[in-house]
Amino acid sequence: MKQKFNRKNSRIKIFIKDRLYERKDAKISVFDSSVQGGDAVWEGLRVYNGKIFCFDEHVKRLRESAKSLLFTEIPARKFIIEAVTETLKANNMNDNVHIRLTLTRGEKITSGMDPRLNKNGSCLIVLAEWKPPVYDNKSGIKLITSHICRNSSRSLDSKIHHNNLLNNILAKIEANISGADDALMLDISGFVAETNAANIFMIKDGNLNTPAADACLPGITRKLVLDIAGNLGIKCFEKNLSVTEFYNADEVFTTGTMGELTPVTEIDGRKIINNINSGIFRKIETKFRELTLNSGYKIQN
Ligand SMILES: Cc1ncc(COP(=O)(O)O)c(C=O)c1O
Repeated sequence: MKQKFNRKNSRIKIFIKDRLYERKDAKISVFDSSVQGGDAVWEGLRVYNGKIFCFDEHVKRLRESAKSLLFTEIPARKFIIEAVTETLKANNMNDNVHIRLTLTRGEKITSGMDPRLNKNGSCLIVLAEWKPPVYDNKSGIKLITSHICRNSSRSLDSKIHHNNLLNNILAKIEANISGADDALMLDISGFVAETNAANIFMIKDGNLNTPAADACLPGITRKLVLDIAGNLGIKCFEKNLSVTEFYNADEVFTTGTMGELTPVTEIDGRKIINNINSGIFRKIETKFRELTLNSGYKIQN
């Protein structure tokens, strides 16, 4: 398992709805929609060098996901920024921190699926932890292809960043059983969508390719990588890609806030050539690193 318990997180303070709680007291109601039906939306953010990376983009996606699910009383951008800032300050956190920002539909008056049972407005949770990127981004990760598909936009649109993570969790279980780090997930037509936790890219003959954002989350890191590559003069394509094309790629890597940019060394037992130290991946990764250090929302004192 890549992640371990970090003692530094044993006494952190967590924001729930309108105030901070000690970790041991940070609890939500059994009537909360997230407990009842996974009825919540979320974002993962990272803090580098006193700044929250891509903060506005994450807040925007959180609020849009909530709107798509017809949440009532979606907190304003200002409220979210203040809650996150208050949490980071209370924990003296300014670097090497991951924030799990969750907005649930809130507490129900009785158990049940119907959102009309939610009479108390939504509930914001800010969980900030000391957490370095979860993968070893030097040696890379191994993937297997899962038989579990990503949702199509006719079932649960991947453009909503929701907490119904069971199809990803089933794929992750397959990866665990196979001894792989993560699972590659296909769309319902059999083209690659993403992994259970991140977006995926491949480089072939100098061009950068990634699945079109039909069945994958249109990741914020994914967009940054496309922008960086465009600025470096690398041709980028968002299109249908098969697993076979990934097997025969020159370089493969995943992207996401939690793990940053991670080389993939093997898929279903096929080794990826991955010239990671002199290839295109490293050029993009270097620019990405510069951005994490030099941009972002400065945590106010
Ligand atoms: C399934 C999935 N794909 C991709 C990503 C990466 O998205 P981002 O770059 O916005 O962190 C995430 C992150 O939460 C995810 O859960």
